[in-house]
Amino acid sequence: MQYRTLGRTEQRVSEIGFGAWAIGESAWGSQKESDSIDALHKAIDMGVTFIDTAQGYGDGKSERLIAQVLKERREKIMVATKTPPAPGPWPPSPYCDMSDRYSEAYLRHNIEERLRNLDTDCIDLLQLHTWTRAWNKNPKPFEILKKLQREGKIRYIGISTPEQDQNAVIDLMRAGYLDTVQVIYNIFEQEPAAELLPVARELNVGVIVRVVFDEGALTGKFSKTTVFPNNDFRSRYFADDRMERTVNRVEKIKTDIKDSGFTMPQAAIKFALAHNAVSTVITGIRTVEQAQANTAVSDLPDLPAETLAKLRTHAWLRGVWYAGK
Ligand SMILES: NC(=O)c1ccc[n+]([C@@H]2O[C@H](COP(=O)([O-])OP(=O)(O)OC[C@H]3O[C@@H](n4cnc5c(N)ncnc54)[C@H](OP(=O)(O)O)[C@@H]3O)[C@@H](O)[C@H]2O)c1
Repeated sequence: MQYRTLGRTEQRVSEIGFGAWAIGESAWGSQKESDSIDALHKAIDMGVTFIDTAQGYGDGKSERLIAQVLKERREKIMVATKTPPAPGPWPPSPYCDMSDRYSEAYLRHNIEERLRNLDTDCIDLLQLHTWTRAWNKNPKPFEILKKLQREGKIRYIGISTPEQDQNAVIDLMRAGYLDTVQVIYNIFEQEPAAELLPVARELNVGVIVRVVFDEGALTGKFSKTTVFPNNDFRSRYFADDRMERTVNRVEKIKTDIKDSGFTMPQAAIKFALAHNAVSTVITGIRTVEQAQANTAVSDLPDLPAETLAKLRTHAWLRGVWYAGK
């Protein structure tokens, strides 16, 4: 496993991190708790030192599983979690009042719950789970987080981009509020390379890449007839003709990389790691096999320049796929 510096936090983190959404058992169909625990152990055995979770991943279930596993380990692991806005539209609408969604009382109460679930007295990295550009002019929630940081409840402060407007976090980086940003950057979603990633690099903000497989599609394992159970959010993410359109594009990528020596999951991960602003790629992991396969990619050689150039042609400017058309 190779390690990179997480921006201005100056913490060294594994290039491959553990994305712990699916192990929350709430949105990815059935998931056995023993598989989740084994996958976490395997990833740490393989050198993973960065885990990303959230309240929303099974109402704290993912956080509690991570805490349970870390009790048995001696390695120093950085755990990033997320506080969602108080109930209301997701993503927050431009008309939402920030003091209704991220009030001081709410943030304090929520962060106490994160501390309890993670069984710690200080959260390594607390990210706001989503945001709206409408709040950029006076981003008070970050002043409150800074207060909580001074009180010793939080070590570093970050944000996860709103999918439909990832560049909304650029003003916040420029204003100096963020130690890290969590961003979608993959073979389809390359827009962050235009501004968000260069600004993060310029300001030394740590970049955590999420959804590197486009929720599994960029592993190349789906077919046009793949269907998901109702309790898997991908039954909606890939609703109607989306699976067919996605698979058609993935087939073209496969053709382009067929002589490169990289598999699709390997190429997908290496594509994200090729950007010099990126600190860690939090691949979603739910089994020992995925832990093994994804972590092993770090020690492979970089993508050759011609393969990277080909992958850049597969950027796909599509609308955000929330719950159906
Ligand atoms: N708004 C936010 O802040 C936000 C949103 C999304 C994600 N995230 C974070 O980012 C992490 C990564 O995103 P994600 O989990 O949504 O999606 P992802 O990384 O694009 O896809 C993960 C899924 O792909 C499959 N997979 C993983 N490795 C594989 C391999 N080597 N071969 C074949 N299939 C493989 C697994 O599902 P199956 O085995 O079921 O196919 C896994 O759950 C999350 O876990 C979470 O920590 C944050």
